[in-house]
Amino acid sequence: MTRVPGIRQRLSKEPLIRLDTARGPHLVRIVGGRPVVHQLLCPHRGALLADAYVVGDLVICSWHRSTFRCADGRRMYGPADRGIEVVPARFDGGDLIIEWPVEPDSGDGI
Ligand code: FES
Repeated sequence: MTRVPGIRQRLSKEPLIRLDTARGPHLVRIVGGRPVVHQLLCPHRGALLADAYVVGDLVICSWHRSTFRCADGRRMYGPADRGIEVVPARFDGGDLIIEWPVEPDSGDGI
């Protein structure tokens, strides 16, 4: 588990925030009123998903339009051969709690 202090207020002003974690770089954005934490790079050719379009519950890569569902990262359309990692996350007051599937050996501090 990772706690990111005070990020909720930042997300009310910024559309997305990059998080550099022990699990690699991720992005956090608000979709449908809830935080979504997903990998930084598109699995197709490595485009920055920070530049992706968000339409409803979908993240659409700006390069070749691979489309991923925010709820679970599933690929819905496009040339990517797999989905993206979406990590369960929730707000706890003003903090963000990220629930990594398995704790890494080296910790997952930011
Ligand atoms: S790099 Fe994202 S769809 Fe090609």
